[in-house]
Amino acid sequence: MQRVETELERLIDEIKYEEVNKLFSNLSGGKRLRAKLVLKIASKNPKAPLLAAIIELIHAASLLHDDVIDEADTRRGKPSVNATEGSKIAVMFGDILYSKGFSELVEFEKEIAKRVASSVTQLSVGEMMDVAMGEYFNTDEKKYLDMLYLKTATLIEAAAASAAILAGKDPKNYALYGRNLGLSFQIIDDILDITSDEKTLGKPAMNDFYEGKMTLPYIYLYEDLPNDDKLKLKSLHKKVLSSNDIDWIKSKMKQYHSIEKAYKVAQRLSDEAKKAVDDEELRAILDKMIQRSY
Ligand code: FPP
Ligand code: MG
Repeated sequence: MQRVETELERLIDEIKYEEVNKLFSNLSGGKRLRAKLVLKIASKNPKAPLLAAIIELIHAASLLHDDVIDEADTRRGKPSVNATEGSKIAVMFGDILYSKGFSELVEFEKEIAKRVASSVTQLSVGEMMDVAMGEYFNTDEKKYLDMLYLKTATLIEAAAASAAILAGKDPKNYALYGRNLGLSFQIIDDILDITSDEKTLGKPAMNDFYEGKMTLPYIYLYEDLPNDDKLKLKSLHKKVLSSNDIDWIKSKMKQYHSIEKAYKVAQRLSDEAKKAVDDEELRAILDKMIQRSY
């Protein structure tokens, strides 16, 4: 991973604007999941650290823009760039990072460049869908999963598949692995938003519902509730929840096993991903991720 950090520093230096170096050094790198996947899948290829760095630049750019869109004050436990520098800087800094990523991407073979570039279109479409879906009480599971795929899984899918191409492996199974890893990761995140406390999350618990996001446990709960309770759940959507409201939602989710139902979907996706690749380390990533729950 040190080679990825070195590549990132080199790419940032090439931009030749001290302000960008400063902003970048203040960003928290996060888990670097996408970079780790690229290095793992294409470990022997000397171009793997550069591809990993490009994908991390794109991911960082998407989060900078996402925090502006979501008006989020924190990112990875630190104040967000839009909170400290303002939205204009955050948007332009994002533009610089992703265009720099693209400038480097064009040097890769066409199939790799195409997969990564089109995943960015997909994740942008997914983000638009997410914003649109936050405006109303969505009860359509398929619609939710389609949006999640675009918003969170496509870049991970492209990272895994393009690393496979770099390594001369068949990208199909790696794409499936990346897609399902991304989807199950996000579903676990959605569960933790409900089951964890504010201290663990670094943001208020049950924030998704307040922001309008109807994640899987809410969709399943709504499906199972009797009509009068359906109306009650709907009336709480996007509202500041009292501790009574929170207790009510949590007890109903317990009664109807809404969390378990969502967890089962994540587990099924994770199992499918495991079957797709013949690699213990890639499977271990899934196990670790899915065990974040409960
Ligand atoms: C986080 O979602 C958001 C994403 C994973 C994708 C955001 C994509 C864009 C803003 C499109 C623009 C792309 C580029 C490259 C400039 P979330 O808000 O559900 O998660 P969070 O809790 O981490 O904020
Ligand atoms: Mg966000």
